[in-house]
Amino acid sequence: MNNDELLSIAEVCKKLKISRAKLNNMIEKKEFTLTYNEKGVKRLYSKEIFKYLENHDVDAPKEVDPRNKLNNLNGTEWIPCTKSFMYQKGLGSNHKDAQIEKLHPAPYSFQDIQQLILFFTKEKGKVLDPFGGVGSTAKACELTNRICTSIELSPKWHELSLQRLEKEIGKGTSKKHNFINGDSVEELKKIKDFTFDFVVTSPPYWSILNKKVDHKTIARVEENLDTNYSNLSKDLGNIENYYEFLEILVNEIFKECGRVLKNDKYMAIVVSDFRNKSEFISFHSDLIQKINKLEVDNTHILTLQGVKVLLQNHKSLLPYGYPFAYVENIHHQYILIFKKSVRKAR
Ligand SMILES: C[S@@+](CC[C@H](N)C(=O)[O-])C[C@H]1O[C@@H](n2cnc3c(N)ncnc32)[C@H](O)[C@@H]1O
Repeated sequence: MNNDELLSIAEVCKKLKISRAKLNNMIEKKEFTLTYNEKGVKRLYSKEIFKYLENHDVDAPKEVDPRNKLNNLNGTEWIPCTKSFMYQKGLGSNHKDAQIEKLHPAPYSFQDIQQLILFFTKEKGKVLDPFGGVGSTAKACELTNRICTSIELSPKWHELSLQRLEKEIGKGTSKKHNFINGDSVEELKKIKDFTFDFVVTSPPYWSILNKKVDHKTIARVEENLDTNYSNLSKDLGNIENYYEFLEILVNEIFKECGRVLKNDKYMAIVVSDFRNKSEFISFHSDLIQKINKLEVDNTHILTLQGVKVLLQNHKSLLPYGYPFAYVENIHHQYILIFKKSVRKAR
């Protein structure tokens, strides 16, 4: 680094491995002198940064605030996780460890869930997924040293989720987690209040998999892959009426998830809006309406804390509606974040 150079804010953040907020704070405290280049853009003197680097080890692990009861992150790691969007990350369908995941019609990415788990739990924390599928939450838990309880109705996906951990992580790893093959409506009733540190899940999106025939469905049929979860009557993805489906999902599953969650802990629900023929169904807002301020027992409620948008920028654009009407390419999901807390006296 040249001692006389002027550096941009982004360059300094990168060199010092700190966030913009932290750097602004240091500038306010006069730890660095703010100047401007000839175009009037903010700059910092490299000689001051140079001096700082001589006296500070920016690679030293940052301490976790002793008041932090939520996770094992320090301030620099915590702040970026509060952004209202994230980009979906995946292995890509040809990756050797994507072959089990690919068999399921609607898995989420264990890497995205890992990020949520790291923010919403401490190491060894207990995580619940009432719609376990092929075990993406369990895989994310194993990779982050958390303990998962994964409930899945279909014997096929249940069996594959066990195999997934054994194959993709290591022999014996599935035994460290609790895989239940059953109906969440019944299984959740057997769990004690205040058991889990975090609930993260993605439910069926009503019976939309049974209704839609799009390019993805056709490709899956050609590859002899399943296009729905199961034909079981207890499968929430087989309920015909949307309002009946919402009722069961919220009052029999999410309310129970709230009951088994510890106080002051969080529940993250990954969903997307969808179309049924030409009708646009804003599933995420219907869920928010029904879950926000929901009483989960006599003294606790769930309240909405944020809605993170999960961007799926890699998806191919299709010419829906062209050249007649606006028909959206839905290239994002929502992560609805609720917190359990004591209901305030009315
Ligand atoms: C959107 S998928 C979840 C996929 C999962 N996140 C993954 O990555 O594999 C929803 C899952 O809920 C399961 N399911 C549907 N009704 C259920 C019920 N009543 N109890 C438990 N699981 C159920 C389906 O079989 C399906 O695997």
